[in-house]
Amino acid sequence: MSQAAVQAAQDWTLEQIQQEIDAHRHRPGAMLPILHAIQDRFGYVPEAAVPLIAESMRQTRAEVHGIISFYHHFRTRPTGSHVVHVCRAEACQAVGARQLEAHIKERLGIDFHQTSADNEITLEPVYCLGNCACGPSVRVDDDVHGRVDADTFDRLVEQLTTTAVEVK
Ligand code: FES
Repeated sequence: MSQAAVQAAQDWTLEQIQQEIDAHRHRPGAMLPILHAIQDRFGYVPEAAVPLIAESMRQTRAEVHGIISFYHHFRTRPTGSHVVHVCRAEACQAVGARQLEAHIKERLGIDFHQTSADNEITLEPVYCLGNCACGPSVRVDDDVHGRVDADTFDRLVEQLTTTAVEVK
């Protein structure tokens, strides 16, 4: 996600959240489409969305919280400037994804679902990026990279940091 997108992700109003709820509330199984729509628009599901969703869907806040926390896809805080997804599915694990994952966590100093101290990178797991023949696979923002090892990952991170500095 670009810096501009992150900035946008932190801009929301209750009216905008309600718009997303109203756009999807009449669909069958509307809860997940609503949560996806809110996260797609704002980058995460703000806490303030929970009571609005609960009231609109006639569920309790605890039920809404339960759904958000059940699906790891949903974030409740803004991301860093970039989001790195590391594939944890079988084909990538067979070609070294576990070692790569350990390197990435150490390099960034964070675990999954966390954001680096400089607010540059949020780390997320993913279970297949459709790039199984070229694992280990990593997605950096919208770009999927194959055959990633520790060195190539470090170079990707350096590029992200360099790009961020140039933008400023
Ligand atoms: S298993 Fe990693 S991309 Fe499919």
